Parts: sequence; structure tokens; C-alpha cells
Amino acid sequence: MSDVIPYAREDAGSPPSLFPDYGSTVARSPREPLIRVPQTLTEVTGPSGWDQLMGPALADLTTQHKSPPLGQRIIVTGRVLDEAGRPVPYTVMEIWQANAAGRYIHSKDNWDAPLDPHFTGAGRVVTDAEGRYRFITIRPGAYPWGNHKNAWRPAHIHLSLLGPAFATRLVTQLYFPDDPLIEIDPIANAVPMPYRQRMVCRFDIGVTEPNWALGYVFDVVLKGRNQTPFEEGQHDH
Ligand SMILES: [Fe+2]
Repeated sequence: MSDVIPYAREDAGSPPSLFPDYGSTVARSPREPLIRVPQTLTEVTGPSGWDQLMGPALADLTTQHKSPPLGQRIIVTGRVLDEAGRPVPYTVMEIWQANAAGRYIHSKDNWDAPLDPHFTGAGRVVTDAEGRYRFITIRPGAYPWGNHKNAWRPAHIHLSLLGPAFATRLVTQLYFPDDPLIEIDPIANAVPMPYRQRMVCRFDIGVTEPNWALGYVFDVVLKGRNQTPFEEGQHDH
């Protein structure tokens, strides 16, 4: 199939599948040599037409219930680019996060922090023709995760981006620039420098809206030398 053009496989900056300080990677990382599976038309051409596939965007996580959620309202915006700096238009970004107290609506999240009846913590947006996206949410809280003694995840927002094809899918986390937990977090530290820094958003007074919400900028690069670090599949932390 001469028209199948593979995407880059080199994931510079990706965390290794085995990172012992991040305990669950010890059990789940492969022990055998990896088998390279050729990319076929299915992996390199789609899907597309997200507006039809997924229904309307959920770009405001603070208006999904009768009342606004508790917490610091924030705007997150940026661009999705490919390795050549070209915008990735009309691609879906899925968003999930804990509430302001650091608790997820998830049956296995039962630590001693309150659920917020006005916050679900899930959204999705589609980039525009220039690869731009924007969503509104509340800043999530830190939470304990039992990986080691006194282990707390830094505040973070989980993001999944498909990009132009299945082969370019990126699952990553957004961190905040003033968070002292990042430097002692094994998940963040599994990503080598300088790539780790690309997972930290930037406060922007221009994006900030007066009397309403703080603004942060987070650009995402899919594949290639400048990529945002990939995670080894989705996880529940
Ligand atoms: Fe998480």
C-alpha cells in the first residue's frame, strides 16, 4: 500500500515503560522485546469528522450542573501543533480531572475529600482551523495516591489528543507552574528533562479575564522532536 505513510515512532521525551519509583509500572511494563506492528491505513488516516462523531463540545466544565463548582475558575487555551510546527486542526482533546479538593468522581476514588455535586470533571473540545483550543474549568486539587509514604500527586489535568490519526494519539498531563509537588512526583519525574517542562502550563495575564477567571496557556506538540511527552497508555492517577 504505497499511500500508507507511517508516523514517526520515536517518542523522544516519553517516560520509560518501567520506572521503578512509579510503582505500578513494575507490574505492567513489558518483559519481552517489543514487537513492531506495521502502521496500516487504519492507523494513519483517521478517524475524522469529530463534530459528527462525538456531538457538541463540552468546553465549560463549570456549567454542567445547576450551580457552579467550588474552586478557582480557570481558562486553559493553546495550540495543537505537529512536529513541523504546523497546526493540527479539527482534532479532539478529551479532558478529565479531579475537583478542587482533589477527588475524582470514580468508584475507586474514596479518599477523605469531598465530592462536589456541581463538578463532573470531564470535557472535550475540538481544535479550530489554526489548531487552537480553549476550555474553562476549575483548578484541580492535589490528592494522595499511595505509591510511597506521603505520596501526593501535583495538581494536574489529564488530556488525550488524537491528532490526525490513531498513530498520533497523545495521552498526557498538564501541571501548574507554581506547584512544589511536581519535583517530587514520580509520574512527572518519569519524563526526562527538558521534556518534563513542557507539561507545565504558563500563566498568562492576557488570557486572564477581569473579574472572572485566571488564564493559562498550554501548547501541545504531537510526535517528532518537539513532542509533549507520551504516557504509557492511560492510567488512573
Ligand atoms: Fe489524575
